[in-house]
Amino acid sequence: MSEPRWDRLLLNATLATFVGDTPCGLVERGAIALHHGRIAWVGRMDELPDAPGTLAAAVESLDGALVTPGLIDCHTHLVFGGDRAQEFDLRLNGASYEEIARAGGGIVSTVNATRAASEEQLFAQSLPRAQALLADGVSTLEIKSGYGLELDSERRMLRVARRIGRELGISVRTSFLGLHALPPEYTDRRDDYVALACDELLPALAAEGLLDAVDAFCENIGFTRGETHRVFERAQQLGLPVKLHAEQLSDQDGAALVAEFGGLSADHLEYLSEPGIKAMAAAGTVAVLLPGAFYALRETKLPPIALLREHGVAIAIATDCNPGTSPLLSLRMAAGMACTLFRLTPEEALRGVTVNAARALGLHDRGTLAAGQRADLAVWKVKRPAELCYWIGGSLVREVYVGGESVTV
Ligand code: NIG
Ligand code: FE
Repeated sequence: MSEPRWDRLLLNATLATFVGDTPCGLVERGAIALHHGRIAWVGRMDELPDAPGTLAAAVESLDGALVTPGLIDCHTHLVFGGDRAQEFDLRLNGASYEEIARAGGGIVSTVNATRAASEEQLFAQSLPRAQALLADGVSTLEIKSGYGLELDSERRMLRVARRIGRELGISVRTSFLGLHALPPEYTDRRDDYVALACDELLPALAAEGLLDAVDAFCENIGFTRGETHRVFERAQQLGLPVKLHAEQLSDQDGAALVAEFGGLSADHLEYLSEPGIKAMAAAGTVAVLLPGAFYALRETKLPPIALLREHGVAIAIATDCNPGTSPLLSLRMAAGMACTLFRLTPEEALRGVTVNAARALGLHDRGTLAAGQRADLAVWKVKRPAELCYWIGGSLVREVYVGGESVTV
């Protein structure tokens, strides 16, 4: 008897492929074959080239269970020390995020806690957050620096981010967010800090191979457009793609700036204007919406969804998992919030955590179920895509495959 051609064959699956024009690229009574870490075959069971038993070393029937690409969380800050539950309390009693930040709390309080944590402590505190995302179907995760704001602490955060990927067997992409907040020791010396971040921290961390992209917080309480321009120029010299926290609390024309640099994504975008949208559309910059932060800040201004659709800007959804504005540990919940709060359709939200999220990270080998893609899949306890957005909470994951291997969730 000849060798089976595939490692694993999953049968009787409902496949949300996100390929083609049908809703979610749905294939009912589908089959998907995994081989050497890649998807080798996808289609209807009745189109398989031979009897299943002869095709693969392992064959499993899923009884109609939904299979999606492994979910991709393209914007998180999940490596940090401490928490900000006390600030949550202050906000519930009327203080705004900006007021807390200006009073020396907010991001800076997490900077202090992160600087005080050893690499082991940071790893031990952050790992469970990544585990929670994985348990909810995430197989690729972006993690930003930005709570260290000096070389050793930024490096520690990034090393912990990479280690989380190795520990869990998932993909972690890292972004340098040196322009996140002005560190307390640089009060009244902004230019010196921007120079440090652009000319010392960024090149040093890039040289150590710890960075995949560069981000910044372009905002009244963050950094100006000019300062952001400066860090983007340095990123460009180093060959790193850029992305931006843009128009979260006010319109700084940041989306147009990141688009000018051919950026991967502009993120948040509640205060985005039409010229910014046009610039993003022309550059192919993805709009990453973060409903967790919208919810936690009790924001009322909606991102301009209709205009994003009209101009054909790809929309992704992420958790923004961070201790201040979005202590959210479920990407599926973010997708559900994008439907309820932003009125995305479940299909738009699910494209936002798969195919469009891959694009927001500049990754072309994942985010859909197609032959040749990485074998990153989530098998669910439900049968219809919309249920992933409809159920609030609970544990719907049956199995996650990363690079063709089942990982413990
Ligand atoms: O994406 N806005 C800036 N950065 C984070 C919040 C970080 C924090 O408050 O710790 C965000 O919302
Ligand atoms: Fe963020």
